[in-house]
Amino acid sequence: MEPITDVWELFPHQRAVRAFADRPVPDEHVTKVLQAAMRAPSSQNGMPWRFIVIRDQAQKDALSPIYERCFDQVYGTNAPDRAAGRQPWSQVPVLIAVLTEARNGRTSMMTGASVYPAVQNLMLAARALGLGTVMTTLWRLENDAIREVLAVPEGWEIAAFVPVGYPETPMGKSRRPPLEGYVFEDRWPQE
Ligand SMILES: Cc1cc2nc3c(=O)[nH]c(=O)nc-3n(C[C@H](O)[C@H](O)[C@H](O)COP(=O)(O)O)c2cc1C
Repeated sequence: MEPITDVWELFPHQRAVRAFADRPVPDEHVTKVLQAAMRAPSSQNGMPWRFIVIRDQAQKDALSPIYERCFDQVYGTNAPDRAAGRQPWSQVPVLIAVLTEARNGRTSMMTGASVYPAVQNLMLAARALGLGTVMTTLWRLENDAIREVLAVPEGWEIAAFVPVGYPETPMGKSRRPPLEGYVFEDRWPQE
């Protein structure tokens, strides 16, 4: 995929990429996407996020079967994704775990609201550099096992795992419906 600098091209071309080329992601690109994530808004500019960048093969190998088990649990072993070449995490060039601080031991819509904009910034920045990403949360089914691999301390929750790499095949624009039915004027439409 080509890099994109026109922001209006960036939005429709930021797609879920689940299969990556066997091509390393330059460290300076990883730094750039993390800097973009740091620019995200958060409540009171609290930046309640941390990023764990996973490049170590042993770590990827430990996480990979956990994600596969979660995937199978939800979609079964014959899911179409498999045929479409979704890669196991062990083969993904870089995995970024995004963590958020659990205030008073709890996460809520408010904590999510202060971390997912950072995830989106990260993914848009990656796409601008020609990299593919996919937001994932399926692994939550085995959250404890994942936490153990990453040695996540109490008080922190993993909000997303984002695989990052050059896409195996270029992807076109995302498919989305027109605004109609999703946007209302002034109030919820009355029957
Ligand atoms: C909250 C959330 C959780 C998601 N979890 C997963 C996941 O666990 N695994 C996965 O492969 N994709 C996951 N996705 C990616 C969605 O499937 C993807 O964004 C959606 O299908 C749109 O894809 P497109 O932009 O390529 O059209 C998730 C997306 C969001 C926003």
